[in-house]
This record gives sequence, structure tokens and C-alpha cells, in this order.
Amino acid sequence: MSHPFDVAEVAATYASKSPQDILKFAFEHFGDDLWISFSGAEDVVLLDMAWKINKNVKVFSLDTGRLHPETYRFIEQVREHYGIAIEVMTPDPRLLEPFVKEKGLFSFYKDGHGECCGIRKIEPLRRKLSTVTAWATGQRKDQSPGTRSQVAVVELDGAFSTPEKPLYKFNPLANMSSEEVWAYIRMLEIPYNSLHERGFISIGCEPCTRPVLPNQHEREGRWWWEEATQKECGLHAGNLISKG
Ligand code: ADX
Ligand code: SF4
Repeated sequence: MSHPFDVAEVAATYASKSPQDILKFAFEHFGDDLWISFSGAEDVVLLDMAWKINKNVKVFSLDTGRLHPETYRFIEQVREHYGIAIEVMTPDPRLLEPFVKEKGLFSFYKDGHGECCGIRKIEPLRRKLSTVTAWATGQRKDQSPGTRSQVAVVELDGAFSTPEKPLYKFNPLANMSSEEVWAYIRMLEIPYNSLHERGFISIGCEPCTRPVLPNQHEREGRWWWEEATQKECGLHAGNLISKG
């Protein structure tokens, strides 16, 4: 399959454009084949922007089975607020059940988050992405100095593309700061996850996320028992690969 556009060229041209311009470009090229990956956190901003451009926007979430109760309620609130379907992906029980039987429910504290994330997030994500040509995430450069400082507004997905099927990955919020994200949420009065009222900034699974202290970087609240450079769960493994 030939590429519909030159990824590096578009990434350079759109690097300084607004998230909305990037989303418009993505919708022009992929229409309803563009899927938004929504985690139930402040990436609601991405969903809001996308929905305002295309009311038929397609959205999926990865339900690891370990999200906070607040996050489940928020995903439902978003579904109702925007009147959209959210495709909720769940782990394959044929992988999950033997894993939990063998290692229990908290093995990640002992031997790292890779195996659990692999089963609860990556396999369902791979299954989803095998059916799509383009996806958009709420990744931002300022979320993780260790792994995300190079995030491009559009890239060929380094982790989930296959030789037969290139997968386009848009990161329209790449250049937005946390401050800008929160100004957007508050000015436009869009719904947000109530955990943000309790010191949570970055939100993932309940056992692997904790609030941060004043001036502590948000990424320090994720997988806090591991090294900063390993704090990717594989969803955005391309970030690690490209850093060599
Ligand atoms: S993570 O890799 O560390 O978990 P992070 O929480 O920073 O990712 O979120 C970055 C982007 O990854 C989100 O804006 C979203 O697009 C995608 N993402 C992360 N977690 C999920 C999830 N559970 N379901 C869907 N998308 C997700
Ligand atoms: Fe498992 Fe934690 Fe990864 Fe969630 S973030 S899938 S609980 S290791």
C-alpha cells in the first residue's frame, strides 16, 4: 500500500499548527477510519476537539480491569455527554486467567509492569489496531521528559505497523502543555475525571498510579517503583524504540 502522504513532511509542516488543524488533516485523510484512543483522563480534550470537528468520531478505550472506579464512571459520563459509542476493549481471558492464576493480581510490583500491561493493554490494543489504518492519542511531550520529548504530531506507528499495513499515528496534543490542557478543560467546561481533584495528574491503572506531590513530575506517579526511562507500557513503545 502506498502512503497517502509523506509522513515526515506533514509532521514538519504541522509541528507548529493547532491540535484542531492536525485533527482536521487526519479526518480529511482518514475520515471515519480515524480512531481516538481515550484513556479516561485529561485526553478528554482530544476527544472533545475531535467530536467538535466530526460528530461521528470513533473512540476506543482499553479496559484493563484495573482502572479506578472514578475512571469507569468518567468514561460513562463522556459517553453520555457526547452521545457517542465508546468501544471498550477487554483482555483475552485465555491469556489473563492463566497469568493471574500463576502470578496473582499484583505481580508487577515484584517483576515489573511489562507482563501485566502486555496482557491487559497491549494485546487488546494490537487486536484493535489490526483493524484500523489511523489512530490518534493524547500523548504530549511534556508528559514524560524521559520518553516523550520527541513525540511527533504524526508518525508511522513504530510498534503496530506491519509490512502489509502501515499504521498512521497522530498525536495532536504533542505540543500542548499541561497548563494549556487545563485551561481548555476549564474554559470550555468539559467533563473531567474527578481523580484530578485529588492530586492525580497522569492517570492509569489503580494499582500503578498514585497522586504526586506539589512540583513532582506527573510521570512520577506512574509505576513509581520503576526507572523513569521504562515508564511506557508498550502502547507507545515506538517512543522507546526510536530513542535506541
Ligand atoms: S500510558 O502509556 O502511560 O498508559 P498515558 O496514560 O500517558 O499512556 O496516555 C497517553 C495516551 O495513550 C492517551 O491520551 C491515550 O490516547 C492512550 N491511552 C493510554 N491509556 C489508554 C487506555 N486505557 N485506553 C485507551 N487509550 C489509552
Ligand atoms: Fe497491569 Fe499496572 Fe499495566 Fe495496568 S498499568 S496493565 S495494572 S501493570
